Amino acid sequence: MLIEWKIAPVKDWHADAIIFFAFEKADEPLAGFRRYLEEKGGWLSGSGALKDFQAKPNETAVFYAPSGEEGIPRIILAGLGPADRFESDKLKNAAAHALRKCREINVARPGIAMAAFEGLPLESPAALRETLFGAVAGLHKFSELKTRNSEAEPAPETFLLLSEAEPDRPTIDAVLLAESEAAGVILARDLTVSPANRATPAFLAETARQLAERFSFKVEILDLDSAISMGMGAFAAVAQGSREPAYIIVIEHAPPGTENDPPLVFIGKGITFDSGGISLKLPDKLDAMKQDMAGAASVLGAFEAIGRSGLKRRVVGILPCTENMPDGRAYKPGDVLKSFSGQTIEVISTDAEGRVVLCDALAFAVKKYSPAAIIDIATLTGACIIALGNQVAAVLGNNEELIGLIRQTGADMGEKFWPLPLWDFYFDALKSEVADMKNVGDRSAGAIVGGIFLKQFVPNEIAWVHLDIAGTAWTDKDSGAIPRGATGFGVRTLFEIARGWPESGRTELP
Ligand code: BES
Ligand code: MN
Ligand code: ZN
Repeated sequence: MLIEWKIAPVKDWHADAIIFFAFEKADEPLAGFRRYLEEKGGWLSGSGALKDFQAKPNETAVFYAPSGEEGIPRIILAGLGPADRFESDKLKNAAAHALRKCREINVARPGIAMAAFEGLPLESPAALRETLFGAVAGLHKFSELKTRNSEAEPAPETFLLLSEAEPDRPTIDAVLLAESEAAGVILARDLTVSPANRATPAFLAETARQLAERFSFKVEILDLDSAISMGMGAFAAVAQGSREPAYIIVIEHAPPGTENDPPLVFIGKGITFDSGGISLKLPDKLDAMKQDMAGAASVLGAFEAIGRSGLKRRVVGILPCTENMPDGRAYKPGDVLKSFSGQTIEVISTDAEGRVVLCDALAFAVKKYSPAAIIDIATLTGACIIALGNQVAAVLGNNEELIGLIRQTGADMGEKFWPLPLWDFYFDALKSEVADMKNVGDRSAGAIVGGIFLKQFVPNEIAWVHLDIAGTAWTDKDSGAIPRGATGFGVRTLFEIARGWPESGRTELP
């Protein structure tokens, strides 16, 4: 779907439909819609049909102009729910539903007026960004592996942005931002929903190579032999049980002049299938474990958005990618591993493999890059789902400001993060008789213990947070902008953090 500006007086607007928003139980329409009704939509203003529309979230209605009406023959209203419960999510989802309605009824050139955002508790560029993000992301469905029904209705050709005045800079930028992050979220969703025999570590590496090619990123793909010779004994232990070649993907965006800045580092868990290994999982819903590379997918998605939007910051992504499989060569409970940091790990459960691959990526980031900050993102623990459910991710770390920044940015982007504590006494659960630490404790505080394990690999001076997205990477509920399946959770927050990060040479938090 193309996005195209049309600057003209209202009377000269042409589109196959025009989209407006409405609040539930509102006494009168939003200001911009009311003006449109006065100027051009007189045919609808007196109609009872308008009053029948409830404007509940996810609800849309199509109103047809009488025949002979010039210019715009349909008005589509999308419900936002009650005004006092408005969040930017509502707008994003309403836009998604409106565009899906367009697809359903074959509207090729829908439009939206900038005036449609008047009266919303959001600045108009931000409202446009949400609308376009929801429109584009909500239309996308992964269909690469379907050979039937491929003739399903096509998406609208062009989404028209209708305005009487030339848009200002923030408004123009909002379009690029929305397109960039929608492409990023779509990439992350497609990778995550892809089965493990498609989205292999090699496939993720190829995806990274293509991103590098398109956006002049640097990329380095370390194979298992190099990881072993570099001393990444923890990553290698997980990878050694898999026939599928494992890789550590290192991708870097360093536009001219930023090459020597301390980078922001994103680390994503890339377990392309988590069987549990020798500590084999139960068969129930095991297919869902193809999603265990959602963290890596979100980092690649963030790089897609970063590349498209042309960010002026140095950002590095490190993605330890492998399957976790049972095999004659697989690592075993009781094994002691020597990690890249030099610390030794006693494996209690081979199913706690995420932290085992991440610890080498963290230590590698610290050693190689002296990062300005590290954010790791991972489907790390079932315990996180027990604690926070499916709509909230956990944030844990060694720096309160960075934790606060994640929470605030996430809230603005429609991704909810909630903090869990990381007091040092949680490490007691990991004390080992034979090594520096065990990889699991007992069942209590599972998400926190995962975090305290990772904390051992990051010096306190480096701001670090761990995002546990085990609950949020996947949804069984269609929200509009995010249909059922993989969510791409984290892409928008990572992208926005990178965008807001201070330029050149400064290492303090924004
Ligand atoms: N990949 C899983 C966590 C997970 C569970 C992600 C459900 C998404 C949905 C992780 O590797 C795992 O198996 N964690 C174990 C940790 C335990 C052995 C300490 C878990 O949560 O049971
Ligand atoms: Mn596991
Ligand atoms: Zn896992």
